Amino acid sequence: MHVLVMGGTHHVGRAVVEVALRRGDTVTTLNRGLSRPPVPGVEALAADRTDPGTVRRALGERSWDAVIDTWAWAPSVVRDSARLPADRVGHYGYVSSRAVYAWPWPPGADESAPLVAGDPGSQDGADYAAPKRGGELAVLEVFGERALLARTGTILGPYEDVGRIP
Ligand SMILES: NC(=O)c1ccc[n+]([C@@H]2O[C@H](COP(=O)([O-])OP(=O)(O)OC[C@H]3O[C@@H](n4cnc5c(N)ncnc54)[C@H](OP(=O)(O)O)[C@@H]3O)[C@@H](O)[C@H]2O)c1
Repeated sequence: MHVLVMGGTHHVGRAVVEVALRRGDTVTTLNRGLSRPPVPGVEALAADRTDPGTVRRALGERSWDAVIDTWAWAPSVVRDSARLPADRVGHYGYVSSRAVYAWPWPPGADESAPLVAGDPGSQDGADYAAPKRGGELAVLEVFGERALLARTGTILGPYEDVGRIP
């Protein structure tokens, strides 16, 4: 598979990149190239996702079987990034969070539990749950049945950078 990871250098994205490379996938990453060097073996594209023009130029007319997106701030950024290659990408996976379920979670809660409100066009990334839900809605808006929303709980691993492992 040809996989595009939006992000891919910190923690979850970096782990996704490494697993994909081990599977034999061809991996492209897109980030600013500011915080950490790319995983060896990827094709690293540089763009600032808050500036869709730079993302458009970086992606060009290429196509991918799947995109994995780890964005955690303003939903409008997810929407812009999803729209750009929408007709050249098979699937769009968004790393969401169980935080999108409204608190308190009912006993035995599953995917049908009530959700927080979110706005896919919002440029506000200050909160956590509402932007994650907005990001989900942005991905669904563009990719519909071709989207996967992974509503994870706590994610630990070798690149954990939130400081939870200690
Ligand atoms: N940790 C947990 O327990 C947990 C639980 C539930 C959900 N989650 C979700 O999991 C995801 C974790 O993400 P991660 O940080 O581990 O992902 P990551 O893909 O490993 O790292 C974040 C990437 O975003 C890039 N980036 C930041 N600002 C950017 C910009 N303006 N333009 C382009 N790229 C930019 C960074 O590179 P540059 O800085 O070089 O641009 C970096 O590559 C989040 O969405 C979080 O909500 C985490």
